[in-house]
Amino acid sequence: MTKILIPSETTSGERRVSATPEAVKKLKSLGCDVYIECSAGKLSGFSDLSYEESGGTMISDLDQKIWSEADLIFCVQTPSEDKLTKLKKGAVLLGLLNPYGNKELLRIINSNKISALSLELLPRISRAQSSDVLSSQANIAGYKAVLLAASELDRYFPMLMTAAGTVQPAKVVVLGGGVAGLQAVATAKRLGAIVFVSDIRPAVKEQVESLGARFIELPEVDEKPGEAGGYAKAATPEFLSKQKATLTKYLSEADVAICTAQVLGKRAPVLIDTSMIEKMRPGSVVIDLAVSQGGNCEGTKSNETTIKDGVKLIGAGELPSSVPYDASSLYAKNLTSLITPFIKDGLIKLDKEDELISGCLLSDEGVVLQNKVFEN
Ligand code: NAI
Repeated sequence: MTKILIPSETTSGERRVSATPEAVKKLKSLGCDVYIECSAGKLSGFSDLSYEESGGTMISDLDQKIWSEADLIFCVQTPSEDKLTKLKKGAVLLGLLNPYGNKELLRIINSNKISALSLELLPRISRAQSSDVLSSQANIAGYKAVLLAASELDRYFPMLMTAAGTVQPAKVVVLGGGVAGLQAVATAKRLGAIVFVSDIRPAVKEQVESLGARFIELPEVDEKPGEAGGYAKAATPEFLSKQKATLTKYLSEADVAICTAQVLGKRAPVLIDTSMIEKMRPGSVVIDLAVSQGGNCEGTKSNETTIKDGVKLIGAGELPSSVPYDASSLYAKNLTSLITPFIKDGLIKLDKEDELISGCLLSDEGVVLQNKVFEN
């Protein structure tokens, strides 16, 4: 029978777990043996007892033998090197492995002959939607970014008519109208804000307007940024400069900016520079979800709040982990949905011809298949 290991996450600040008791039940029903490290689900609200009741076997973190026996390892972030070196040849690691420029990971999986499926590389096709971890987690980040902004802002979000006078609604500018951006729009609208969105993909205009927000028209330039496989391509310096000029006006009137703009495998575009921050209202708030990719706003730092000219700059790259129960539940469903078609009678056999598997297969028994992802 395939042995699946659900380890405790060891990356600092990570509160999610890669499989919930419900996911364990599903994997057991497929005939697999599932081993969960004690307390693996504690920070996301899942007790050891609930895993046992779902048919999982709890193992002490002192009992390291399972690392050399496991066939498939679910993880949120990459386990530590000392754990990876214990894995047997051909064991399959499945998670958000952060492959871009990660030469260290490449070295470890190569020298230990590990197979690795990196969920960041999953193709953006209809069949992949139920397995799309980037979407499920970005949705949470977009929602939580607005709640964070609302709690840090010195104003109400909604319009209020009171005996003491009328309070005008907050103005929110969302940069990037992808999965996180659209959820930020929906959440800010629910709280009563007026919302404006900038994106370089023209298709976003209709999506934004259907949520009741206003689209900031694209700058007129000869070379418009394109898109490939659902992702935006990098914009030219000319486009970015004109985009910034337009954004300066919107930001100078805004109370909140939510930054979600990204370009796959590249540094995130800088859309708010210090001269634009100077023109923002003191007390306004910038939440930068792109901070791990370099940030859309100059001066944001991961997990830190910086005050610049009275503006609060918040680097928030780890928001999914701050909603760990739902983030883990969706993440676990994504993983089981990806892997289920390849488990028959308790035995896993990955079909490397399958588009989803070949798309995210980073390493086949240590042979790295997608060298391109290490170029950046
Ligand atoms: P992402 O996280 O790579 O980027 C976020 C947004 O930033 C994108 O909308 C992008 O156009 C925008 N952006 C890039 N440069 C910008 C700039 N200079 N200024 C303003 N915005 C900029 O993308 P995400 O959110 O992961 O997905 C984008 C789209 O891909 C989705 O809206 C959806 O249409 C599609 N998608 C399809 C899936 C599937 O078919 N399985 C799964 C997930 C998304």
